[in-house]
Amino acid sequence: MQDLKPYLETNKARFLDELLDMLRIPSVSADSKYKNDVLRMAESVRDSLIAAGADKVELCPTAGYPIVYAEKIFDPALPTVLVYGHYDVQPPDPLELWDSPAFEPVIKKTELHPEGAIFARGACDDKGQMYMHVKAFEMMVKNNQLPCNVKFMIEGEEEVGSDNLAPFLNANVQKLACDVILISDTSMIANDVPSITSGLRGLSYLEVEVTGPNRDLHSGVYGGAVANPINVLAKMIASLHDENGHITIPNFYDAVLDVSLEERAEMNQAPFSLDEYKKHLDIAEVAGENGYTTLERATIRPTLDCNGIWGGYIGEGAKTVLPSKAFAKISMRLVPNQTSAEITELFKKHFESIAPASVKVVVRPHHGGEPVLTPTSGIEYQAAAQAYKATFGKDALPQREGGSIPIVALFERVLGVKTVLMGFGLNSDAIHSPNEHYGVFNYFKGIETIPYFYQFYTNLKGKK
Ligand code: BES
Ligand code: MN
Ligand code: MN
Repeated sequence: MQDLKPYLETNKARFLDELLDMLRIPSVSADSKYKNDVLRMAESVRDSLIAAGADKVELCPTAGYPIVYAEKIFDPALPTVLVYGHYDVQPPDPLELWDSPAFEPVIKKTELHPEGAIFARGACDDKGQMYMHVKAFEMMVKNNQLPCNVKFMIEGEEEVGSDNLAPFLNANVQKLACDVILISDTSMIANDVPSITSGLRGLSYLEVEVTGPNRDLHSGVYGGAVANPINVLAKMIASLHDENGHITIPNFYDAVLDVSLEERAEMNQAPFSLDEYKKHLDIAEVAGENGYTTLERATIRPTLDCNGIWGGYIGEGAKTVLPSKAFAKISMRLVPNQTSAEITELFKKHFESIAPASVKVVVRPHHGGEPVLTPTSGIEYQAAAQAYKATFGKDALPQREGGSIPIVALFERVLGVKTVLMGFGLNSDAIHSPNEHYGVFNYFKGIETIPYFYQFYTNLKGKK
């Protein structure tokens, strides 16, 4: 492959400026007040793909936000890589905890990013990582170095559960036909420890509502004699873990595919400092399931977390009230071979069964997603490994990760195609948190590495 480095060097300033422009668009999919910005963002991604040299570029309407589709096909006998990413971002709240405004990107040096990091919502998840692919594609096209066919599918509803993606996939199997899916929406271990994601957790997300008396009551007149739904809900949630950190829902672990001791030993070889981890989060001690390391707890084991809890009076001052209702949002991270539907059902059954007769309980399932393994034995993984070797000068480590990208399991089920997860973020980049950032090094290293993947994948796959 002809060296693309001179082109990258010449265009670095522009590549960075273009990303900063995208980060100025507040494409928050969860909040309808940003609707026009999300739509503007979709157009901006479309325009960037046209400028980069894609032949057919379109905004595909869905029941929600449009999917940006683009392709460049010059020889059907060559392999086709489908790049997936998302242009929507998480809400920026809580705004007061940002050191600079979430949609006014600034570049600042940090301990882990001595070359500077771009601070903005979506910098790492996923605009910065998605845009690496657009720029890598531009480099290959403009230098006549694209070794295979490419399709892009960039969606705008990933952060709200991708509800409209399954119908789109099912309706466009032909259009999306490809040999491999390429995604950069995950992390690597450290800037000098490249890694390739070998699995992701799935997700069950639901909301619970606990109702006591038919209205809010005076807590002096009725307190002590009528069940308080907040007290009850708190106790029910607390009972979902035992003293060993195990989840108490019957049959919850039945489907869990055990990871062998050899594999666990190997994953714990990855560089990881518990002290730094605690320091970074300002916690005195970690917590989790007995018998597993922190790395294991956060990747290969299922979890149950309360994401939000509310009810009663939360305004200023005091109001002596025994509330009628209490609510909570609960998420469970799943591992192979648990399924979202089964786990949601087990939760519902159990939660209803532990409710005392003094309250009524409603469980409302939200979106879900299936866990996946992306095996290290396939040619897509090997091509990625060769690419990292070429640009980092060392072998990438396989790494299971704790986050979820539900589309990966869907791609495999609907299109029958495997995914390779080449993430360039760091876990400390504060995705979904205030002060999200993405290393300038990571951005350019991604742009440099991606073309090698295309080349090595095409070599390994060969012509049809
Ligand atoms: N990019 C993340 C997923 C991720 C982050 C995977 C870090 C591995 C490492 C993605 O945008 C995300 O936030 N996914 C959601 C799931 C979705 C159904 C809302 C998640 O994991 O909570
Ligand atoms: Mn993401
Ligand atoms: Mn995300």
